[in-house]
Amino acid sequence: MLMQQTRKVLVGHTSWDNEPVMFPVRYYGNTLILARARYGKTTIAKIIACAVSEFRPLIIIAPYFDTDDWYGLKYLNRNAEYKKCIPFLKCINNFSIKLSRFKDYSDWVSLGFPDVASQLITQFAKIKKLHNDDPEIFAEFLVKLPKTDKELENFNITFAKYNINLPSRIADATHQSINLRFNLVKHLFWFPKDERHSVDDFGKIVALNPHVLIDLEEDNEYKSRAYVGIILKDIKEYLKQLQPLLIIDEADKVAPDVRDLIYYPSSLNEIMEYKNKYQRLGVNMILCTQDPGLLFHDLKINPDFIITGQIETQMPGLSRELLDKIYYDPDKNIRNFMLLNENRSYTIFKPLKCPCMLRSLKEVWDGKL
Ligand SMILES: Nc1ncnc2c1ncn2[C@@H]1O[C@H](COP(=O)(O)OP(=O)(O)O)[C@@H](O)[C@H]1O
Ligand SMILES: [Mg+2]
Repeated sequence: MLMQQTRKVLVGHTSWDNEPVMFPVRYYGNTLILARARYGKTTIAKIIACAVSEFRPLIIIAPYFDTDDWYGLKYLNRNAEYKKCIPFLKCINNFSIKLSRFKDYSDWVSLGFPDVASQLITQFAKIKKLHNDDPEIFAEFLVKLPKTDKELENFNITFAKYNINLPSRIADATHQSINLRFNLVKHLFWFPKDERHSVDDFGKIVALNPHVLIDLEEDNEYKSRAYVGIILKDIKEYLKQLQPLLIIDEADKVAPDVRDLIYYPSSLNEIMEYKNKYQRLGVNMILCTQDPGLLFHDLKINPDFIITGQIETQMPGLSRELLDKIYYDPDKNIRNFMLLNENRSYTIFKPLKCPCMLRSLKEVWDGKL
């Protein structure tokens, strides 16, 4: 695959003399879009998405739906200066993921299981024959985890046929935390008779469609972290072939500023891999957040570009003095952003009127790839 050249896309006009402001889309790179809620972060990302869709596949992940409307990308905003929308955007929602796909320790950390509980449950969840991807059957199994030496013996005999052999009984506290936690999250997994469509491979979806929007719908951050971890793992092997622009909205929810390595959720592990390793396969990643203070610290170090509105921020390189130059008045529909380049020169601009609709009807996915 040929290295793509940097393409520049129009995102707005300078606030003082109305000159066009171009955002450079590199073959690879990473960009942060920062501003408080309702400032227009998602709208800017949509302006970029519309322009980029002409020359690169898009993968958009909306992990935490609030009032944003990514579905509007499919429909043209007739009043826009730059007319463009993405009719071939595949919108994935109303889906669930099977239990046996949660194979890694960090998948269970994502779901809020403590350390030892995550280690234990990781071994069992991936044994599909044990539960047939039915969370109720798995819940019954978890109750049977042995708390005494006597129980341990019976347990190992009963489950030997699944190659399960526990070396020792488990502590009462672990037994309790596994069972309590699983009961709280079991509705997040696909279950028999589930009306949500189960997705066995997000890689196939992104390979088969020109552009994909994955909408997680609920505002449940455990689900967001665990699901986004699996989504990013699935699409990894298609990156080289697709060279997509990956946009993750509300990124602090899936890349939180966790300090202790053993508590990194799978989504954070993957996002860091994308930034440090997979980027050079040809992924350009845009992360949006209204709260950079909550975003994982390493993601704030040297992003290629920052697009920011006025926000109380702990971003290195964004001084109070700079931020004070940005003017915002939502009542008059005035919103200025600052584009910081990698040499940290800056341009203050007003964004384009969104080329696509700001709001539109959400269509429910039919489960077809
Ligand atoms: N470029 C724009 N042109 C017109 N209206 C905008 C623009 N950007 C934002 N808005 C308005 O502000 C609202 C919030 O924008 P949004 O992009 O959802 O903000 P955020 O993602 O920062 O919370 C939009 O629904 C729209 O009404
Ligand atoms: Mg938003």
